[in-house]
Amino acid sequence: MTTLLITGGAGFIGSHVVRKMVMDHPDYRVLNLDQLTYAGNLENLKDIEDRPNYQFIRGDIVNEPFLEELFGRHQIDSVIHLAAESHVDRSIANPTAFINTNIVGTVNLLNACRQSWDGKKGKLFHHISTDEVYGSLGSEGLFREETPYDPRSPYSASKASSDHLVRAYHHTYGLPIVISNCSNNYGPNQFPEKLIPLAINNILHMKPIPIYGKGENVRDWLYVKDHATAIDLIFHQGTQGRTYNIGGLNEWKNIDLIRLLCRIMDQKLNREPGISEGLITFVKDRAGHDLRYAIDSTRIQNELGWKPLLTFEQGLTRTVDWYLENEEWMRRITSGAYQSYYDQQYGNR
Ligand code: NAD
Ligand code: TYD
Repeated sequence: MTTLLITGGAGFIGSHVVRKMVMDHPDYRVLNLDQLTYAGNLENLKDIEDRPNYQFIRGDIVNEPFLEELFGRHQIDSVIHLAAESHVDRSIANPTAFINTNIVGTVNLLNACRQSWDGKKGKLFHHISTDEVYGSLGSEGLFREETPYDPRSPYSASKASSDHLVRAYHHTYGLPIVISNCSNNYGPNQFPEKLIPLAINNILHMKPIPIYGKGENVRDWLYVKDHATAIDLIFHQGTQGRTYNIGGLNEWKNIDLIRLLCRIMDQKLNREPGISEGLITFVKDRAGHDLRYAIDSTRIQNELGWKPLLTFEQGLTRTVDWYLENEEWMRRITSGAYQSYYDQQYGNR
């Protein structure tokens, strides 16, 4: 049986990747390694936790002796690495946590793989990264795989650094790797600090929707399950050493996106049209706020036949439905209610 280690599997994107791998590949034994920070939540995986090919392990990728012990205990064949500190605003407030997890944690994992694989065949380290490593675009152009790196926030600088290290381990030590850089994801299980779930939560409770600056910044949005499908394809069919950009070809100015979301929410909540839009509040801009991200995903489309399946309206409507059906999830995750429970249940390593 192939043993696949997925890091960060209790988080937003990771939970969708874990579910896909467990369900679509019953011949894999999937180990989900997650520290269960504020962003990690095992409720995201309740429906698959009893599957015989799934196992959860609590642990910190910054903890080297723990990783050594883990790789000694399990014969790990492949890694899909998603564990990270992932929110730009938090990286502005506290960069050090991003350096530790995103850079040091990634190097620790690379070292563990290098040591345990030692030139053996059939291994792969798939590093999950972001389009933010490429910097910021003006009103024209798209990020391509060859676009020079120009990260501008502590978050994107830490991810850029980890991408460089993953590539360096490939070139220097021959470690089998593949990297994917994706645009902004949205969908079920996203922690409500990111724009879309934060706005849904605030609209639901008739609280102000904070829009940074004038709301002119542009992001390219991709439904999280389309990202999970792309990861599955790259993991199985991607060329080693190669990078793949993944994007939704779906650019929205923040203000236009929020207006669309307000219209959908008014309908779902049977509110008078325009009620939710009245909650929009322009606030102080984010420091160093990148203007525009947009991805050219020709490579993954042509080489691996991937394309996003959902339109933005479909994806956004599904997302709103999910959050409205899971208000309790939202309440518990924002109150930090899980943390002490997990500490009791699994210990804190
Ligand atoms: P997330 O914040 O929802 O989840 C991160 C997970 O990693 C959590 O479960 C957390 O508990 C775990 N984790 C954090 N530090 C850890 C540590 N030291 N040891 C072990 N586990 C730890 O993040 P996400 O939005 O799901 O992003 C997942 C990955 O995808 C990240 O690497 C991110 O950079 C990348 N990415 C995210 C987006 C996006 O739009 N969210 C887009 C492109 C790429
Ligand atoms: P975010 O979801 O934090 O993702 P990222 O910064 O990684 O792109 O933010 C998406 C966009 O929305 C970004 O331009 C910042 C903006 N934004 C707001 O205007 N208000 C908010 O409260 C948040 C969290 C983000």
